Amino acid sequence: MPHKFGHNWSGLLRPERAQAQPPDAILALVAPQPGETVLDLGSGPGYVSLPLAERVGATGRVIAADIAEEPLALLRTAAAAMPQVRTVLVEESRLPLPDASVDAALLVNVLHELADPVGSLGELRRVLRAGGRLGIVDWDPASPGRGPRIEERVPPERAGQWLRAAGFVPEPAAALGAAFYAVRATVG
Ligand SMILES: C[S@@+](CC[C@H](N)C(=O)[O-])C[C@H]1O[C@@H](n2cnc3c(N)ncnc32)[C@H](O)[C@@H]1O
Repeated sequence: MPHKFGHNWSGLLRPERAQAQPPDAILALVAPQPGETVLDLGSGPGYVSLPLAERVGATGRVIAADIAEEPLALLRTAAAAMPQVRTVLVEESRLPLPDASVDAALLVNVLHELADPVGSLGELRRVLRAGGRLGIVDWDPASPGRGPRIEERVPPERAGQWLRAAGFVPEPAAALGAAFYAVRATVG
């Protein structure tokens, strides 16, 4: 079982993080539009879900899903004035969502924590509509430094293999800042 983040939830919302992982650069991977339904899988306390909620607006929906309840409770408090944010407690690789029910999905700093990566990506593919977009950001094993141990990180080539195995069509990975890579994929 890969290491799971399970401490210092509020640290994930520290303002300095925006230098290494600018929220605009993350959201640009799926270009969320007003009125869309976007899934933030492994949302934690909402580093991505909160700016996403502003993008989709009052007519849209953010589904913030996580296997841990504690960060979802923090997110509910932070998003109290944003009724478009819905939190969902999920199982490791099962999403309690209907087929083809979301327009786009984001997976930020979560891929390396998945116990069943192809299973989780397959669930994402199932809940995305035809033409749906997926954006992944994770720690680059080629950029040692703070963050997960190198052996716990997922090389971008492996992320591409997992995506293809789950039925996605991935684009080549690109750097996101100095320590992360990003991959866009569409439903194949
Ligand atoms: C390092 S945190 C990142 C949180 C958030 N995406 C962010 O960027 O701030 C990883 C999150 O993924 C969640 N997680 C791990 N495995 C998961 C899974 N199989 N399904 C959903 N969430 C998962 C953890 O509980 C944790 O909240």
